[in-house]
Amino acid sequence: MAGVPSSLHESIVIVGAGVFGLSTALALKERGYSDITILDRELPPVRDGSSTDISRIIRSDYLDPFYSRLATEAIQSWKSSNLFKPHYHPSGYMLTTEVKEDIYLEKNKEILRGQKQTYRELNDVAALKQMIPGEDLKDLKYGYVNTNAGWADAAGAIRALATHLAGLGVSFITGPRGTLQSLIVDDTGKKVLGVNVAQGSPIHASRVILATGAWTARYLDDLDYHITGSAQPLGFIQLTPEEGRRLANIPVSINTTSGVFLFPPSPGDNLLKVAYHGHGFEIETSAAHGDTGKDGVNLRVISVPQRDANNAASKFFPEDADKYLRAGLRQLIPSIADRPWVKTRLCWYTETPKGDFIADYHHTLSGLFIATGGSGHGFKFLPVLGRYIADCFERTAVSDVRQRWKLPKPSPQKEKLQVNDGSRRGPPRRMLRREEQLRANL
Ligand SMILES: Cc1cc2nc3c(=O)[nH]c(=O)nc-3n(C[C@H](O)[C@H](O)[C@H](O)COP(=O)(O)OP(=O)(O)OC[C@H]3O[C@@H](n4cnc5c(N)ncnc54)[C@H](O)[C@@H]3O)c2cc1C
Ligand SMILES: *[C@@H]1O[C@H](CO)[C@@H](O)[C@H](O)[C@H]1NC(C)=O
Repeated sequence: MAGVPSSLHESIVIVGAGVFGLSTALALKERGYSDITILDRELPPVRDGSSTDISRIIRSDYLDPFYSRLATEAIQSWKSSNLFKPHYHPSGYMLTTEVKEDIYLEKNKEILRGQKQTYRELNDVAALKQMIPGEDLKDLKYGYVNTNAGWADAAGAIRALATHLAGLGVSFITGPRGTLQSLIVDDTGKKVLGVNVAQGSPIHASRVILATGAWTARYLDDLDYHITGSAQPLGFIQLTPEEGRRLANIPVSINTTSGVFLFPPSPGDNLLKVAYHGHGFEIETSAAHGDTGKDGVNLRVISVPQRDANNAASKFFPEDADKYLRAGLRQLIPSIADRPWVKTRLCWYTETPKGDFIADYHHTLSGLFIATGGSGHGFKFLPVLGRYIADCFERTAVSDVRQRWKLPKPSPQKEKLQVNDGSRRGPPRRMLRREEQLRANL
């Protein structure tokens, strides 16, 4: 079939060593592809990548049965595979709401029942106090705990997978030599031949897979309204060992009214992470067409992280985000609500209009495949995602997967992006003011 690799020995370059790039490499390696090279700006786990830090929620609670099924399959792997199991913590996942018969929770429970999975109803504050012991909690209307869920040590799982891939013979190139500068396109302008990198000679390949997460709009023209970056705030609180012991068994908890969620303390160092599944912040940065943002004519303005800087280094934290997280923390763990953050961070979501992933060949450039669009919910799929992406790569995916993960056609109208799969809460997306963006080093 047109555009499908004709041999397992074709050279494949994957740009991006996060969830999308590494899981794709794993699946391709398992299918026998012998010549795979992964490029990244840094050694994974990449400090400012989206697939890092101490934790990610692993849950199958989705209104869309497609992702619910996929997540259930992934959780099975988190629980059983030698590679991923050490990084999975089956703490359970608690969802609370202020709304009686909240459609989001009711539909999720219906899906769980359909899958013959058990969950525990929470209907009063006494039930909440059992879940979060030793706190002076005043308020719970409704909720449930999905016990077949938990969280993963994100950096740990990524490090383990990268090491595993290296052991299987996948090559890694990181740093300036691993940093994509631009695609090499043949004279006809229709075929990708490899990548130019920030240092040294070009790297040629029969196929290039772009798995560059929130950076992707830098490298693809006219798709920035379909793949865009949003910065999402998160804060960390240092618990004492005694608090750590007391809260060790709390579930990952989300208040679905506000979107604020928090994790049990990280074992060992007792860091408690708070975030919210919301609309985040946009920035304005300029990039030249079709390359990585060097000075050029005809610049376009997009919302993406910097390529040549560590986007997680700045101490800047939007004031409104700080307040919002504090308020959410105060409702769930009031005893620590006034303690200063030991660390804050902006982490990038790669947004698509409906929160669907992208795994598809480019419309006009043959040899170029795009695997991205995590939309703030991709991590949990790490153990299985690559198989579905590899199906798209080999054009054998079932139509449901193919249709959902299609690369959107470039559209000349800059229509408003509706980034929401129904799970986002909190204030609308806000553009960081110029001075905020400067302080954030973005
Ligand atoms: C705060 C936050 C909380 C989240 N919570 C959850 C959760 O609880 N559960 C869940 O399932 N998901 C969650 N997600 C979503 C999930 O983490 C992402 O969907 C997933 O990590 C995206 O992976 P990726 O491979 O697309 O991106 P990344 O991990 O960012 O990988 C892209 C890589 O491309 C590299 N790159 C970019 N440009 C270049 C270049 N020019 N040359 C070389 N390399 C380049 C970058 O360095 C980067 O390492 C969360 C995300 C964030 C930000
Ligand atoms: C959830 O958030 C809402 C809105 O901020 C708040 O009124 C409610 O008390 C919170 N509930 C819990 C259980 O934290």
